[in-house]
Amino acid sequence: MRSLVLSLLLIAGLPGISSAGYREDFAREFMSKTWSGERIEENACIDCHASERMKPVFREIVDEWRKSWHAQNDITCHDCHGGDPKDPSLAMSHQQRGFIGVPPYAKIPDLCGRCHVGILRYFNESGHGKALRTSGKGPHCVVCHGSHNIQKANIEIISEQRCSKCHTYGRAQDMKQAMFLVEKKITEIEDGIKALRRAGIYPEEQEQAFFSTQAEFRTLFHTVDVNLVKERTGEYTRKLDDIEKGISGTFADLRSRKNFSGFLMLLVSGMGVVMLLLSKTPKE
Ligand code: HEC
Ligand code: HEC
Ligand code: HEC
Ligand code: HEC
Ligand code: HEC
Repeated sequence: MRSLVLSLLLIAGLPGISSAGYREDFAREFMSKTWSGERIEENACIDCHASERMKPVFREIVDEWRKSWHAQNDITCHDCHGGDPKDPSLAMSHQQRGFIGVPPYAKIPDLCGRCHVGILRYFNESGHGKALRTSGKGPHCVVCHGSHNIQKANIEIISEQRCSKCHTYGRAQDMKQAMFLVEKKITEIEDGIKALRRAGIYPEEQEQAFFSTQAEFRTLFHTVDVNLVKERTGEYTRKLDDIEKGISGTFADLRSRKNFSGFLMLLVSGMGVVMLLLSKTPKE
């Protein structure tokens, strides 16, 4: 993307630029940054919001965010709120730096959905999304995930406390039951992969298949369509079964290799004993 911008800039701008100015602009614009996966070392939003001058309730936001899965993945304040983390004086300028501020309730899905595109699509089509748009009564992303301390998602988000605010817990429970078996398999495979890693084996192919399958399944919840989830459970169980077979296959290989090396050890030490006995047999 940046190289596209760069080439457009080159094509559009070259003739008119006095060369010294161009170099400075170029250096300022591009050279201090890495070309991809930009990481901002100094972040005015965090510096100021974590400082003593901020009121304590606001300072807590930074602490919460630091513990989040987003923070670990370099998603910071301006990725959601807009603004410019490199310029303390204009950081929160709506006009000049695209600061969004706090999004209104019904706009939150669009904010999160800029990155979580597939989920936004399911959500918008769901009973929840429709209710949010028509009557403002549906829950948005933050109601279930929180905003600053967002962690990796799992089925435990479905709880009586969270899901009985607006309707009976029954519906939520049906959904949780429909998801239970697939979720259980997901956990088992996760454990299997961890065990293989501990043994120094990285089953890359299976890991990739696993991660995309579980991510796909976990977006499905957002339809809040119990029948649809039930319908597709079979398909996901089959996919996960295949992956599980691959993993148990690797385990079996590992075990037979261990057995084989055990057999070799026995053979070698057995031969040692025979040699020892032979050397000790009295000469005639
Ligand atoms: C994943 C997106 C996301 C990230 C990252 C994020 N925020 Fe927010 N923030 C939100 C949303 C959504 C709201 C409104 C809902 C709420 O208050 O929980 C919000 C609300 C706020 C508020 C208003 C709270 C209030 O009570 O009025 C402040 C201040 C704030 N964020 C600051 C920050 C700072 C500072 C950071 C970085 C350390 C940050 N946010 C990172 C999404 C985010
Ligand atoms: C120099 C200090 C400073 C910097 C830099 C700064 N903020 Fe703020 N921010 C504040 C103060 C002060 C408030 C208002 C707190 C209050 O209402 O008491 C605030 C409020 C907010 C709010 C909630 C209320 C609103 O006005 O919408 C958000 C969201 C927010 N800041 C995000 C950011 C982001 C994102 C950045 C970086 C791009 C940033 N801030 C940079 C000091 C700063
Ligand atoms: C600028 C892009 C961006 C925005 C905006 C954003 N996220 Fe994320 N989110 C990410 C990335 C990157 C990850 C880490 C990779 C992953 O786990 O999928 C992530 C991870 C997550 C996870 C954990 C996923 C898992 O693996 O279990 C949840 C839940 C989540 N985000 C919810 C939200 C919510 C809710 C909002 C809005 C308040 C939001 N995100 C806004 C980029 C974003
Ligand atoms: C009614 C509660 C609820 C709402 C509203 C909701 N989610 Fe979720 N979300 C969940 C649950 C529950 C899971 C875990 C599903 C599972 O374990 O199979 C989840 C999973 C996720 C994941 C992880 C998917 C993965 O790859 O592992 C992300 C990211 C996410 N949600 C983002 C969002 C975004 C963005 C929105 C708003 C558009 C949103 N959620 C709205 C409850 C909700
Ligand atoms: C902010 C309010 C609110 C919260 C919180 C909430 N819901 Fe809902 N839910 C609604 C509304 C509104 C509807 C759709 C209108 C209706 O059918 O009553 C709905 C509908 C549903 C449906 C039926 C969808 C359909 O198409 O038939 C399911 C299933 C459901 N919710 C599950 C959950 C789960 C699971 C949670 C907790 C993770 C949850 N809800 C939390 C408001 C909420």
